[in-house]
Amino acid sequence: MVDVRAVSLRAMYAATVPRNGYATHRWDKYPAKMIPEMARFAIERVSDAGDLVVDPFCGCGTVQVEGSLLGRPTLGIDVNPIAVLLARAKSARFDAGRLRRHATEAIEGARRNRHAEAPPSCWVDYWFTRATLGKLRALASTIESRERISVKYRDLLRACLAVAVRRCSRADPRSPKPFISARARSTRVGRHFDPFAHFVEVVEELCVAGGDLQKRMASPPGTVTIQGDARHMDVYVDPSVDAFVTSPPYLSAQDYFRSTKLELAILGSISGDEVRLLGSRILGSGRGRRPRVDWDCVGWCPAAVSRLSSKDPRAAADVNSYLVGIRDVLRGMHALLRPGGMVCMVVGNSTLRGESLSVHRWVVRIGSAVGFSLFDHVVDRIRDRRIPPSRSHGTIIENEHLLFFKKGT
Ligand SMILES: C[S@@+](CC[C@H](N)C(=O)[O-])C[C@H]1O[C@@H](n2cnc3c(N)ncnc32)[C@H](O)[C@@H]1O
Repeated sequence: MVDVRAVSLRAMYAATVPRNGYATHRWDKYPAKMIPEMARFAIERVSDAGDLVVDPFCGCGTVQVEGSLLGRPTLGIDVNPIAVLLARAKSARFDAGRLRRHATEAIEGARRNRHAEAPPSCWVDYWFTRATLGKLRALASTIESRERISVKYRDLLRACLAVAVRRCSRADPRSPKPFISARARSTRVGRHFDPFAHFVEVVEELCVAGGDLQKRMASPPGTVTIQGDARHMDVYVDPSVDAFVTSPPYLSAQDYFRSTKLELAILGSISGDEVRLLGSRILGSGRGRRPRVDWDCVGWCPAAVSRLSSKDPRAAADVNSYLVGIRDVLRGMHALLRPGGMVCMVVGNSTLRGESLSVHRWVVRIGSAVGFSLFDHVVDRIRDRRIPPSRSHGTIIENEHLLFFKKGT
């Protein structure tokens, strides 16, 4: 039995982690980002300098940025291609002059390309003025078609365009999901935002933030980001990982594909149906076909789940498939960790249809069932931070549980 420790990570790091942001952390607005203090705390707790730290749900790369600052080589995996672009850009070493030059050339190319035939109208039209959309598409296709540019710099330009997309849209920039609030309706709808100007602004911000990251790193340890499914990590990761630090999606809390659908549409010419399909790969999204319920896996939480299933069988099946996914990820971690290697998994409890679900307890049980032992349990209260918006089931997440596991006893 391990005692639960309540901490305030913000207060703990107040002297060393600037509240107004540093390195590349504040460059983007990816939903449900980890706070840098949490990544730092977890990495220091489970690894030493030089150890390989893997984050299989890396999002925009907070663990990779903090890992780099702490001298750990890192590897990030995420199923969302926009997350992968952001994580790569935020942890990259690059030449700012070269990036600025490529950006200027891309804009020149896009100006020439601007009057290319527009694709037939579709759902994306709703989110931008015609002129804005034309320029965004011209910029995206110019970046894709430029021949004399390396993969790394092309990805940096793509990431900059991804960050610029929301700044040019009608959606309220304060909301993680594209959403036209009353304020956005009065201040943004019908207004032309110039994508070329916003793109230059974002490139400049990355040059400054990336420069700050480089200055803070004694010797860059190296980082890799892969697009893939955390449930099949063995495909991308070699065994003998030193540590895992990760925050999987919360149960039914956030649809990361919907939140990035505008970026996906501009960068990947993806349709609304495809966004929905991709959404079904997100752990906990409650989308897509539900697998047959494997009640053996949840046999130790029957009370909450059977109460839930009598109210809403679909929601109960979602809980089950979330837990099966978490089990697969923990199994994968156990198989890939070196003996004595450690894991920090950050989870939050949920409320579905009025049932309070003790997700952290279940994750502890799954962890021990696959061979881990819990050696620390830290709770950080979400106070003044951006909280993922509640979905239809009324999920409110108040605390984040940092569960620390060790391979072996
Ligand atoms: C809570 S966020 C991680 C945030 C991250 N720590 C950061 O600071 O940006 C969870 C991430 O898991 C990703 N994800 C969801 N299902 C996944 C899966 N099956 N495999 C890999 N990544 C997945 C989502 O795309 C999302 O980026």
